[in-house]
Amino acid sequence: MDFSTKAFDSTKAGQADLANAKTECLVVGVYEQQPLAGLAKALDVASKGLLTRMVKRGELNGKLGSTLMLHEVAGWSPARVLFVGLGPEDKLTQKGFNEATRAAVRTLLASRAADAIWTLAQAKIAKQDIAWAVRASVLALREATYRFVQMKSKAEPATTVLSKVYFAVAREDEKAVKLAAKRGTAIANGMALTKDLGNLPGNVCTPTYLAGEAQKLAREFKLKSEILGPKQIEALKMGSFLSVARGSVQPPRFIVLKYEGGGAKQAPIVLVGKGVTFDSGGISLKPGEGMDEMKYDMCGAGSVLGTIRAVAEMGLKLNVIAIVPATENMPNGQATKPGDVVTSMSGQTIEVLNTDAEGRLILCDALTYAERFKPAAVIDVATLTGACIIALGHVNSGLFSKSDALADELLAAGRTTGDTAWRLPVEEEYQEQLKSNFADVANIGGRPAGSVTAACFLSRFTEKYDWAHLDIAGTAWKSGAAKGATGRPVPLLTQFLIDREAR
Ligand code: BES
Ligand code: MN
Ligand code: ZN
Repeated sequence: MDFSTKAFDSTKAGQADLANAKTECLVVGVYEQQPLAGLAKALDVASKGLLTRMVKRGELNGKLGSTLMLHEVAGWSPARVLFVGLGPEDKLTQKGFNEATRAAVRTLLASRAADAIWTLAQAKIAKQDIAWAVRASVLALREATYRFVQMKSKAEPATTVLSKVYFAVAREDEKAVKLAAKRGTAIANGMALTKDLGNLPGNVCTPTYLAGEAQKLAREFKLKSEILGPKQIEALKMGSFLSVARGSVQPPRFIVLKYEGGGAKQAPIVLVGKGVTFDSGGISLKPGEGMDEMKYDMCGAGSVLGTIRAVAEMGLKLNVIAIVPATENMPNGQATKPGDVVTSMSGQTIEVLNTDAEGRLILCDALTYAERFKPAAVIDVATLTGACIIALGHVNSGLFSKSDALADELLAAGRTTGDTAWRLPVEEEYQEQLKSNFADVANIGGRPAGSVTAACFLSRFTEKYDWAHLDIAGTAWKSGAAKGATGRPVPLLTQFLIDREAR
């Protein structure tokens, strides 16, 4: 889908111009108490009061999320006009705008319109501007048109035909809107990559495949890349990471991508993504039901690759490094057993009490590796604990950080994008639960506060820099009829980086 702008005068004459535009669909916002203002008023006049009559009958009422599509109305040039309810004026929130936008997108896509002029982004939204609204619109349009068909044997006919969307924009806003559409597209592309990688089955998306995709990104966006195999990982003494890979026939990969958009002296932001391409649980084997969904256990990796793609496409003036430890977690004869003790790259020894708590075992070595970059901050992203779904459901990602400032930045980025996180503690008091009789630390802390003890385990490897951890077990994919990866938390991470560039 292609996005561009259509500039108009923000005068009455300008509104009339839009009413006369040649388009297959003009999308118009209407408010609840005064549905016929601005562009709607101009359309009403051109149609000799048709809209006034519809308002009287209650057919056009501006209720938030309502839609009404009119076709080939005499006096209007657009083949269709789609009216979208925005609720009472001055009460429109970000959430309300997104709700109205999703409804508009559904109706627009269900029509056979191949192009559209989108005026909704001009709505006044609490605390946000037109650039935000344009970006949110791009993301909603791309979200609704995402399809994963790579694994189907026959090409499926396209379900939608919309290919070109023009954002109607007052001339003075055109520059900001162009940038917003560009950024929205970059984020949508990043999310699509994250979704594709997540949705691919484990027999295709192996550690080697992930490394290949990272190298493709490196070539396309001129990133520096480094892909390490078992020998090099061993030379780095990543005994914890390797202990997870032992039980699989697929060799592990340690992936590093560098985007250098900032100055050579600028400390990088390092993103670390859990890349377990299939989590069977290992010797602590998971139950069979729903185990297919453990192909999504590399969504942290997918999201850091999606984010670095978005950042590179946007050309942010920042240095960003993506690190992905990639492996399967499988139970063959060489697999790590409960009770085994392994030595991490940091030197800390770990008693593996449950081989299904493997995410932290691969992340801890990646977090130690990150020290060498003298990072401004390190954020790891992982489908780490089922307990996080119990705590926060599928609404918020779990956020853990000892730094209030970093946590607040990430929470704010989540609120701006609607890709929200909720902060949970990482206090010393919980470290108690990770005590081992035989090693420096155990890899599980029992059932109470399972997500917190997982974060506490990771925190032991992050003493040298500012760190945050996002547990995306509940937000990275959806189950049920709409099973599929969500592309989260690419919007949150990208917004965080946009804000970092600006500060
Ligand atoms: N990948 C899982 C976490 C997970 C489970 C994410 C279900 C989404 C849905 C992780 O590796 C895991 O198995 N965690 C265990 C930890 C436990 C053994 C301490 C869990 O959550 O049960
Ligand atoms: Mn597991
Ligand atoms: Zn896992």
